[in-house]
Amino acid sequence: MDGFVLVNGASPAIRDVYYRYLAWKVVKRHISQRRPRHADRRVLEQIIIPFILAKFQPRTVLEVGREPYEAFYNEFFVGRELWTIDWDAAKAQFGAPKHIVDDAANLRNHFPESYFDLVLMNGVFGWGLNQPEAIEKAFAAVHALLAPGGLFVLGWNDTPDLVPVPLDQVQALRQFTPYFFAPLNGTSFKCSTYEHVYSFFLK
Ligand SMILES: C[S@@+](CC[C@H](N)C(=O)[O-])C[C@H]1O[C@@H](n2cnc3c(N)ncnc32)[C@H](O)[C@@H]1O
Repeated sequence: MDGFVLVNGASPAIRDVYYRYLAWKVVKRHISQRRPRHADRRVLEQIIIPFILAKFQPRTVLEVGREPYEAFYNEFFVGRELWTIDWDAAKAQFGAPKHIVDDAANLRNHFPESYFDLVLMNGVFGWGLNQPEAIEKAFAAVHALLAPGGLFVLGWNDTPDLVPVPLDQVQALRQFTPYFFAPLNGTSFKCSTYEHVYSFFLK
């Protein structure tokens, strides 16, 4: 099985090439030619994830929200401690072996502070995580659970029906520092499909 953690001894340039190749192979293995070509997926799978693996070398990863079409995402994180959480018990089968069924607002009940190097939450804000109180609680938990220097990747849709609270009004996000994600040339990036935005925050 390919996919291993390149850490000591590999230069950043080698890691970058390696993880882009790994991501491409994982996607190719799992995605049929029939999958529509959504730019927001391609950006996540082939730009964001490989860059983070190379640059941040996360040892502990939390992914919030898992749909069937992402079950193979476990393979991006082979050799790392990957946790998934989704409040819908039916999604557990698509999660990582370490999976929790619960509301993201309750994350603090499950992990100690500073546990994760990376938290990925794509398509959850506005897709169930909608109540202002729950949003504050979930994002504050993400901040608490990230290790210093850890990265929070928030994927969301910038359409009125899918933005329950403007992000600049979410107090918990103010604890983070916006992270300049070099491959996308900004701290946020809007894809060409679905007004899908990726925002990057550093603890
Ligand atoms: C629209 S799907 C998209 C998720 C997926 N990560 C993606 O990239 O497309 C939203 C998922 O998040 C889960 N979800 C929504 N709100 C949640 C919450 N507050 N806590 C935990 N899971 C939630 C849903 O059950 C569903 O599996």
